[in-house]
This record gives sequence, structure tokens and C-alpha cells, in this order.
Amino acid sequence: MSFVPQTVVLGDADAVADHAAAYIVDKLAAKPDLVLGLPTGETPRGIYARLVEACRTGKLSFARASSFNLDEYRGLPPGHPASYHAYMREMLFRHIDIEPARAHLPNGLAPDAGAEGRRYERLIEEAGGIGLMVLGIGGNGHIGFNEPGSPFDSRTRAVRLTEQTREANRRGFPASETVPEAAITMGIATILEAREILLVATGTAKADALADALKGPETPECPASVLRRHPAVTIVCDTAAAAGIELCAR
Ligand code: GLP
Repeated sequence: MSFVPQTVVLGDADAVADHAAAYIVDKLAAKPDLVLGLPTGETPRGIYARLVEACRTGKLSFARASSFNLDEYRGLPPGHPASYHAYMREMLFRHIDIEPARAHLPNGLAPDAGAEGRRYERLIEEAGGIGLMVLGIGGNGHIGFNEPGSPFDSRTRAVRLTEQTREANRRGFPASETVPEAAITMGIATILEAREILLVATGTAKADALADALKGPETPECPASVLRRHPAVTIVCDTAAAAGIELCAR
């Protein structure tokens, strides 16, 4: 069964961040104990800044909320500045009132990735499942770190990163360090089990991936194309990222 995601196209990245942050604020107001799935990367920075501001001014509270991040690099300790633990701490967690024990990320240092994947899945299940999954998209259509070829029935597990993804993420690392070759990511099936999904995309570098996700074949070669199987997906993007969709629509 295939669904058409609701797509909101806005002028620029700031408008996308405004819209997505307001969307999350509304969902949290309606359900203060919401379980969020959270992404990292450049795209959500503006969203997190707005959520921090909303919290600071008393318009929003995460006191009863929980969160599960999509992924973490393998081999990076939480204190490493390029780790997603550090990113989340700096961008969001240390500025808001979320209970630290309820703000989860996969453990990139777990010696047994299989056991870590099962532990993470169990935690999500115990929290009652993810209510709102916020997603970015990679230039190759990846979601989380589910690279092209990831099975649609995959769960949280260790994965190898493509060269394209490692190159795109190099900016987060000091010049003297290499980008890890592997990560632990929620699986495609894990993501699809969220009750609702909000995907954000900005910039021309995402135009092809977004067009493939929405208009191309539903295939593991474009992991984001699986989102058409979910009945409650909203895509918020800017005109640059929407260029391919508009071309296809003509
Ligand atoms: C990263 C993350 C994804 C993210 C994507 C896009 O590798 N693992 O969760 O959505 O790539 O990142 P950016 O927003 O920096 O383009």
C-alpha cells in the first residue's frame, strides 16, 4: 500500500526550521509525554535552536518527553566532539529540561553491536514506541544511517558508511581525523513503526534524493522511498530541495 506524503514547500531553510519547530512544539503541547525520534546533521540545527528558545521562554517543556536518536558513529566516545552524543548535548539537551535518562542514543562504543541494537529496540518498545520521528535525508537518499541497499525490514544494527556519506560528514571532524567507517543506526523497520514522521530537507544537494524518494521506484536503493509506505508522513522542505519534485510534477 502506498501513500502520498503531505509536502510543505517553503522559501528557505529558516522558514523550514520555523515550520518544523512549530510542528514539534504543537505535538509536544498536545502530548507532553511524547516519544520523539531525533536526527543529527546540518539540517536540524535551526530546528533545535528554535526548540531551545521556546523552552527558555517557557513556551515548551520536555520534562515528560523522551527521545531516541537515530544513530551514532561506531568507535566514538560520547565526549568526542564529532560524536552525535556531543552534537545532541550541545544543540539541544543541555539547554532544555529533558530528563537525561530519557534522552537516548545508541552506544557507539558497545563491543557487541548486535546486543546494542537489541537493547535499543527494547528501550524504544518499553517507552511505548516512537510517536513522532523527525528525519533528515542524505544526498543518496539515506535515512538515519540506512544507506542504499538497507533492507526495508532492518532493525537497529551496525552498518558500514558509504564514501559519499563519509565525505559529506567530514566537516564535523578535525582535519587530522578520519570519519568512522561504521555506525549504529535505527533500522528502516524501526523508523517505519513511528506513529508519525516529519522529514526535513533543505538545499539543492537534497533535490535528487527527495525526487527519488517521492517519485522514483520504491526500492532499498533509495531508502527514503520507503516512507511512501507510511500513512502519516509530512515533508517540510525549501524550494531548492523541492526542485526535483517540481520538475517531476510537470
Ligand atoms: C547524516 C545523518 C542523517 C542525516 C543526514 C543528512 O549522515 N546520519 O540522520 O539526516 O546525514 O545530514 P545533513 O542534514 O547534514 O545534510
